[in-house]
Amino acid sequence: MARPSSKHASLKLVLICLALLGFALIADYIWASSSRFSYSLSIASNWAPPYHPDTSIPVTTKPDSANPTKGEAAKGGKDVNPGRALSATFADLPAPELTWKKMTTAPVPRLDGAAIQIKNLLFVFAGYGTIDSVHSHVDVYNFTDNTWGGRFDMPKEMAHSHLGMATDGRYIYVVTGQYGPQCRGPTAHTFVLDTETRQWQDMPPLPVPRYAPATQLWRGRLHVMGGSMENRHTPALEHWSLAVKDGKALEKEWRSEIPIPRGGPHRACIVVDDRLYVIGGQEGDFMAKPGSPIFKCSRRNEVVYSDVYMLDDDMKWKVLPSMPKPDSHIEFAWVVVNNSIVIVGGTTDKHPQTKKMVLNGEVFQFSLRLQQWSVIGKLPFRVKTTLVGYWDGWLYFTSGQRDKGPDDPSPKKVIGEMWRTKLKLIL
Ligand SMILES: *[C@@H]1O[C@H](CO)[C@@H](O)[C@H](O)[C@H]1NC(C)=O
Ligand SMILES: *[C@@H]1O[C@H](CO)[C@@H](O)[C@H](O)[C@H]1NC(C)=O
Repeated sequence: MARPSSKHASLKLVLICLALLGFALIADYIWASSSRFSYSLSIASNWAPPYHPDTSIPVTTKPDSANPTKGEAAKGGKDVNPGRALSATFADLPAPELTWKKMTTAPVPRLDGAAIQIKNLLFVFAGYGTIDSVHSHVDVYNFTDNTWGGRFDMPKEMAHSHLGMATDGRYIYVVTGQYGPQCRGPTAHTFVLDTETRQWQDMPPLPVPRYAPATQLWRGRLHVMGGSMENRHTPALEHWSLAVKDGKALEKEWRSEIPIPRGGPHRACIVVDDRLYVIGGQEGDFMAKPGSPIFKCSRRNEVVYSDVYMLDDDMKWKVLPSMPKPDSHIEFAWVVVNNSIVIVGGTTDKHPQTKKMVLNGEVFQFSLRLQQWSVIGKLPFRVKTTLVGYWDGWLYFTSGQRDKGPDDPSPKKVIGEMWRTKLKLIL
């Protein structure tokens, strides 16, 4: 094989230099467009509690792109980001505009609740109303006449947020979750709801409690995997399953299954065409402040992922193409339409300078046929842990926590609003 001549080598060098220059210009542009929301730090909302001293960073008033950020970064965290090399995964992605219509607002605002759609009904469960109060009931949205109604109570022992949930089309299985407000830990209690009679029954408890585990019904078994351990923060890798049929457990105990490649809470878990998918999520979450009698939430380091894993006949996890950006808080923010998974909003990497949580305002589509992601639209605002349904061509979302405004993607108001748009898939 011919060796490259020195002329070729120097041409290559020039091309590399040009590429680097181009990269620097792009990075500079991203830096400039992001810095407008970097220095308006006001942590007033109780949904964004002040950072715990362990994870806080000194806030400088002037961008200094020559120096890496201090704090976590200096302690060897993942955020050693000199200004010019920001990854920008926190930035909004270009997305087509969609026409959204505001429908009837839910009876209560809710954050970190759960939702399951059965035919034309969206059952919306639990959730925080405020950081100090949680709901213990179900509201039902009727997609046929676009009304809320049919409120009924949950069992007293059922968790109020961060639940695992799945349905067979009539029964809804409800697994573990956080019991109580603020940053209390999870319970192992597990229930099943018959949506026709609206009666609840107990199910065998999980071997240990989990916080926001990935949960789905697959091949006659209820699968529960990942989530956080009882401290809310430490990622768990365990995976269990239980045989169920028509709202009854067919076994007394959960069976251990192949552990999930990456643990942690807040992922979408979906079965389509006899394959089980686990999408996005994070490692780490807020924890109760040590010694706090009210289990006051204190922020810890979180890392958000764009990973997609799949289980099929082999019962070995396969890695599929990653989401267009890291996305967490999406456990009930998806629907399956025409062999595509559609995911609405979520949270992404924290802002590299302010370290504030950053919400997502995109609608994502994963075509299972093409194994390809795209961004198919913009939401009316950025929102996390939103609850999503699809009916008669319309994509609906309700609840969750929205952003501070178009220029500030950090979380603020807990909402009960219901919105819809005509869904247009692009692949
Ligand atoms: C939903 O609305 C339709 C149309 O008004 C009605 O016929 C149906 O009974 C409602 N379903 C429930 C469960 O309320
Ligand atoms: C799904 O597929 C059907 C049949 O091809 C089509 O009529 C419908 O518009 C599609 N829905 C969406 C949201 O793309």
